[in-house]
Amino acid sequence: MKCQRLVGLGAGGHAAVIIETLQAAGHVEIIGLLAPASGDVLGIPIIGDDNILVTLQDRGIDGVFLGVGMMKSPAARKRLVDKATHHQLEIVGAVHPTAFIAPSVTIGRAPQVLAGAVIQSRARLGDHVLVNTGAIIEHDCRLGDFSHVATGAHLAGGVTVGEGAFIGAGAVLIQGVTVGANAVIGAGAVVIHDVYPGTTVVGVPARPLPQNSTSRTKCPKDEDCYALSSIGTPSTFEEISE
Ligand SMILES: CC(C)(COP(=O)(O)OP(=O)(O)OC[C@H]1O[C@@H](n2cnc3c(N)ncnc32)[C@H](O)[C@@H]1OP(=O)(O)O)[C@@H](O)C(=O)NCCC(=O)NCCS
Repeated sequence: MKCQRLVGLGAGGHAAVIIETLQAAGHVEIIGLLAPASGDVLGIPIIGDDNILVTLQDRGIDGVFLGVGMMKSPAARKRLVDKATHHQLEIVGAVHPTAFIAPSVTIGRAPQVLAGAVIQSRARLGDHVLVNTGAIIEHDCRLGDFSHVATGAHLAGGVTVGEGAFIGAGAVLIQGVTVGANAVIGAGAVVIHDVYPGTTVVGVPARPLPQNSTSRTKCPKDEDCYALSSIGTPSTFEEISE
């Protein structure tokens, strides 16, 4: 099998996890990382920022991978995909060899399925979905494009997760619930009812976070703040790199 020459987008904790996931899966040579910084991650050098995306094809790079995680918004990941696609670069997924994906599962483009994750029968995943370390997606779940199921979250059978939604670490969603697009489920929440699009819910059982929380409106990680920063600026990468 041909060894793929790849470049990673981002240089934080998630980039480190994806580097070692790709290396465990084999047949890759990771040439460098793009980030507005210098240095290296696990010995992989940062070779520039996203302004050099345009040069990668000429350098014999086969594709790029997303090395940025997602805390509350998929906006930065979406922008990276858009920009790489604009430069005709393939976005490469990463599936750890210890992840279990049942044969009847269907998955879209460039999934990231990390160590110990389980995706059970007839689940359907969209494009650029991130199923983080040890997460469990039970039978017949549906995950929309750019959704992220964080570390150790458990989705019971037949759960639907809308595009861009984020399921926090250790959250539990009972069978059949629907989480709307771009909703956020807090870490440790137990979701027993459907969640409206764009809503943040926390707690056991999960309830909406009050909209008037001052800390929320000031949070630099909110989507509006992402929208203010162009791709590849320090704010884009630093806010979402874990
Ligand atoms: C839900 C979440 C997104 C809210 O973030 P935020 O908008 O910045 O909210 P704040 O931290 O300002 O907290 C607002 C209020 O919600 C409470 N709260 C926040 N997260 C909570 C959670 N997971 N469970 C219960 N209560 C929570 C806070 O205590 C605070 O309550 P208060 O106003 O009574 O003091 C965030 O706390 C969270 O759980 N993120 C998930 C992180 C995660 O899973 N990372 C894994 C990456 S793989």
